[in-house]
Amino acid sequence: MSLTPIVVLVSGTGSLLQALIDAGTDLGYGVRVAAVGADRPGTLGQARAEAAGIPTFVCRVADFPSRADWDAALAQNIAAHAPAFVVSAGFMKLLGPVTLGQHTVVNTHPALLPSFPGAHAVRDALAYGVRVTGTTCHLVDAGVDTGPIIEQHAVAVEPDDTEDSLHERIKVLERLMLVDVVGRLARQGFTVTGRKVTIP
Ligand code: GRF
Repeated sequence: MSLTPIVVLVSGTGSLLQALIDAGTDLGYGVRVAAVGADRPGTLGQARAEAAGIPTFVCRVADFPSRADWDAALAQNIAAHAPAFVVSAGFMKLLGPVTLGQHTVVNTHPALLPSFPGAHAVRDALAYGVRVTGTTCHLVDAGVDTGPIIEQHAVAVEPDDTEDSLHERIKVLERLMLVDVVGRLARQGFTVTGRKVTIP
Protein backbone atom coordinates (compact mmCIF):
# COMPACT_ATOMS: atom_id res chain seq x y z
CA MET A 1 0.00 0.00 0.00
CA SER A 2 1.37 3.46 -0.82
CA LEU A 3 1.62 5.86 2.08
CA THR A 4 -0.26 9.16 1.95
CA PRO A 5 2.05 12.05 2.93
CA ILE A 6 0.71 14.58 5.43
CA VAL A 7 2.19 17.65 7.09
CA VAL A 8 1.30 18.17 10.75
CA LEU A 9 1.27 21.64 12.33
CA VAL A 10 1.89 21.96 16.09
CA SER A 11 2.36 24.64 18.73
CA GLY A 12 2.68 22.75 21.98
CA THR A 13 3.32 19.39 23.54
CA GLY A 14 2.41 17.45 20.41
CA SER A 15 0.64 14.47 21.97
CA LEU A 16 -1.76 14.45 19.01
CA LEU A 17 1.23 14.45 16.66
CA GLN A 18 2.76 11.56 18.62
CA ALA A 19 -0.43 9.55 18.20
CA LEU A 20 -0.20 10.05 14.41
CA ILE A 21 3.50 9.14 14.37
CA ASP A 22 2.81 5.99 16.41
CA ALA A 23 -0.11 4.99 14.16
CA GLY A 24 2.14 5.41 11.11
CA THR A 25 4.58 2.76 12.33
CA ASP A 26 1.97 0.26 11.13
CA LEU A 27 2.31 0.47 7.32
CA GLY A 28 -1.31 -0.64 6.97
CA TYR A 29 -2.34 2.67 8.51
CA GLY A 30 -1.40 4.21 5.17
CA VAL A 31 -0.12 7.60 6.37
CA ARG A 32 3.39 9.05 6.44
CA VAL A 33 4.10 12.24 8.41
CA ALA A 34 6.26 13.93 5.76
CA ALA A 35 7.06 16.98 7.90
CA VAL A 36 6.07 18.80 11.06
CA GLY A 37 5.73 22.59 11.16
CA ALA A 38 5.63 24.75 14.29
CA ASP A 39 4.78 28.41 14.85
CA ARG A 40 7.62 28.84 17.35
CA PRO A 41 10.96 27.19 18.08
CA GLY A 42 11.57 24.79 20.94
CA THR A 43 8.23 23.01 21.13
CA LEU A 44 7.98 19.49 22.46
CA GLY A 45 6.05 18.74 19.28
CA GLN A 46 9.08 19.58 17.17
CA ALA A 47 11.30 17.47 19.46
CA ARG A 48 8.94 14.51 19.05
CA ALA A 49 9.20 14.86 15.25
CA GLU A 50 12.99 15.06 15.36
CA ALA A 51 13.12 11.98 17.60
CA ALA A 52 11.13 10.14 14.95
CA GLY A 53 13.43 11.33 12.15
CA ILE A 54 10.74 13.54 10.60
CA PRO A 55 11.82 16.81 8.91
CA THR A 56 10.64 19.95 10.73
CA PHE A 57 10.26 23.63 9.98
CA VAL A 58 9.47 26.65 12.12
CA CYS A 59 7.47 29.54 10.72
CA ARG A 60 7.12 32.41 13.21
CA VAL A 61 4.74 35.30 12.57
CA ALA A 62 7.26 37.65 14.23
CA ASP A 63 9.89 36.81 11.59
CA PHE A 64 7.82 38.31 8.76
CA PRO A 65 6.91 41.92 7.96
CA SER A 66 3.20 41.07 7.81
CA ARG A 67 0.75 38.30 8.55
CA ALA A 68 0.25 37.92 4.78
CA ASP A 69 3.98 37.27 4.31
CA TRP A 70 3.88 34.68 7.10
CA ASP A 71 0.89 33.01 5.46
CA ALA A 72 2.70 32.80 2.11
CA ALA A 73 5.85 31.41 3.73
CA LEU A 74 3.88 28.82 5.70
CA ALA A 75 2.09 27.70 2.53
CA GLN A 76 5.45 27.36 0.77
CA ASN A 77 7.03 25.42 3.66
CA ILE A 78 4.11 23.02 3.61
CA ALA A 79 4.11 22.66 -0.19
CA ALA A 80 7.80 21.69 -0.15
CA HIS A 81 6.69 18.36 1.37
CA ALA A 82 3.84 17.82 -1.12
CA PRO A 83 1.26 16.59 1.40
CA ALA A 84 -2.11 15.18 0.36
CA PHE A 85 -3.51 17.22 3.24
CA VAL A 86 -2.40 19.07 6.35
CA VAL A 87 -3.32 18.29 9.96
CA SER A 88 -3.50 21.15 12.43
CA ALA A 89 -2.87 19.28 15.70
CA GLY A 90 -2.91 21.91 18.41
CA PHE A 91 -1.59 24.63 16.08
CA MET A 92 -2.58 27.87 17.80
CA LYS A 93 -2.48 30.28 14.84
CA LEU A 94 -5.30 31.09 12.45
CA LEU A 95 -4.31 29.99 8.98
CA GLY A 96 -4.39 32.56 6.20
CA PRO A 97 -5.95 32.56 2.73
CA VAL A 98 -2.83 31.45 0.85
CA THR A 99 -2.31 28.39 3.04
CA LEU A 100 -6.00 27.51 2.95
CA GLY A 101 -6.16 28.12 -0.81
CA GLN A 102 -3.28 25.75 -1.50
CA HIS A 103 -3.88 23.05 1.10
CA THR A 104 -6.74 21.04 2.56
CA VAL A 105 -6.41 21.37 6.33
CA VAL A 106 -7.97 19.13 8.99
CA ASN A 107 -8.19 20.54 12.52
CA THR A 108 -9.04 19.03 15.86
CA HIS A 109 -10.74 21.11 18.53
CA PRO A 110 -11.37 20.33 22.23
CA ALA A 111 -15.13 21.07 22.29
CA LEU A 112 -18.31 20.07 20.49
CA LEU A 113 -18.45 22.73 17.78
CA PRO A 114 -20.22 25.01 17.10
CA SER A 115 -20.12 25.43 20.90
CA PHE A 116 -17.00 27.02 22.33
CA PRO A 117 -14.84 27.87 19.30
CA GLY A 118 -11.51 29.64 19.82
CA ALA A 119 -8.38 29.17 21.87
CA HIS A 120 -9.97 28.58 25.31
CA ALA A 121 -12.60 25.99 24.47
CA VAL A 122 -12.16 23.82 27.58
CA ARG A 123 -12.13 26.81 29.96
CA ASP A 124 -15.16 28.33 28.22
CA ALA A 125 -17.16 25.08 28.40
CA LEU A 126 -16.38 24.70 32.14
CA ALA A 127 -17.29 28.33 32.83
CA TYR A 128 -20.59 27.92 31.01
CA GLY A 129 -21.42 24.91 33.17
CA VAL A 130 -22.11 22.36 30.44
CA ARG A 131 -22.48 18.73 31.58
CA VAL A 132 -21.22 17.32 28.28
CA THR A 133 -18.46 18.66 26.06
CA GLY A 134 -16.09 16.78 23.77
CA THR A 135 -13.96 17.05 20.69
CA THR A 136 -14.50 17.83 17.02
CA CYS A 137 -12.50 17.03 13.92
CA HIS A 138 -13.29 19.39 11.05
CA LEU A 139 -12.01 20.88 7.83
CA VAL A 140 -10.59 24.37 8.20
CA ASP A 141 -12.20 27.31 6.43
CA ALA A 142 -11.60 31.05 6.80
CA GLY A 143 -13.53 31.28 10.08
CA VAL A 144 -12.55 30.39 13.64
CA ASP A 145 -13.39 26.67 14.02
CA THR A 146 -16.30 27.00 11.59
CA GLY A 147 -15.40 24.50 8.84
CA PRO A 148 -17.40 21.37 7.91
CA ILE A 149 -17.43 18.78 10.70
CA ILE A 150 -15.96 15.33 10.02
CA GLU A 151 -16.34 13.61 13.42
CA GLN A 152 -17.27 14.39 17.03
CA HIS A 153 -17.04 12.57 20.36
CA ALA A 154 -18.67 13.55 23.65
CA VAL A 155 -17.01 13.71 27.07
CA ALA A 156 -18.95 14.08 30.34
CA VAL A 157 -17.91 16.94 32.64
CA GLU A 158 -17.30 15.71 36.22
CA PRO A 159 -18.30 17.91 39.17
CA ASP A 160 -14.71 18.39 40.36
CA ASP A 161 -13.15 18.88 36.93
CA THR A 162 -10.50 21.54 36.44
CA GLU A 163 -9.57 22.88 33.03
CA ASP A 164 -6.54 20.56 33.04
CA SER A 165 -8.35 17.39 34.16
CA LEU A 166 -11.15 17.91 31.64
CA HIS A 167 -8.72 18.75 28.82
CA GLU A 168 -6.67 15.62 29.54
CA ARG A 169 -9.81 13.44 29.34
CA ILE A 170 -10.87 15.16 26.12
CA LYS A 171 -7.40 14.64 24.63
CA VAL A 172 -7.60 10.87 25.19
CA LEU A 173 -10.61 10.75 22.86
CA GLU A 174 -9.21 13.49 20.62
CA ARG A 175 -6.11 11.41 19.86
CA LEU A 176 -8.17 8.31 19.03
CA MET A 177 -10.53 10.36 16.86
CA LEU A 178 -7.72 12.11 14.98
CA VAL A 179 -5.84 8.90 14.26
CA ASP A 180 -9.05 7.26 13.03
CA VAL A 181 -10.16 10.21 10.86
CA VAL A 182 -6.74 10.92 9.32
CA GLY A 183 -6.30 7.25 8.45
CA ARG A 184 -9.71 7.01 6.82
CA LEU A 185 -9.26 10.28 4.90
CA ALA A 186 -5.90 9.05 3.61
CA ARG A 187 -6.96 5.52 2.71
CA GLN A 188 -10.46 6.21 1.43
CA GLY A 189 -10.47 9.84 0.30
CA PHE A 190 -13.43 12.12 0.96
CA THR A 191 -15.93 14.44 -0.67
CA VAL A 192 -17.41 17.68 0.64
CA THR A 193 -20.90 18.76 -0.31
CA GLY A 194 -21.84 21.98 1.43
CA ARG A 195 -21.18 21.26 5.09
CA LYS A 196 -21.32 17.49 4.72
CA VAL A 197 -18.02 15.59 4.64
CA THR A 198 -18.33 12.03 3.31
CA ILE A 199 -15.61 9.41 3.65
CA PRO A 200 -16.73 6.60 1.32
C1 GRF B 1 -5.61 19.71 21.75
O1 GRF B 1 -6.64 19.59 22.71
C2 GRF B 1 -6.03 20.60 20.62
O2 GRF B 1 -7.33 20.43 20.19
C3 GRF B 1 -5.84 21.95 21.27
O3 GRF B 1 -4.61 21.84 21.93
C4 GRF B 1 -4.41 20.49 22.30
C5 GRF B 1 -3.11 20.03 21.70
O4 GRF B 1 -2.53 19.02 22.45
N1 GRF B 1 -5.93 23.04 20.33
P1 GRF B 1 -1.08 18.45 22.12
O5 GRF B 1 -0.13 19.62 21.98
O6 GRF B 1 -1.16 17.66 20.85
O7 GRF B 1 -0.74 17.57 23.29
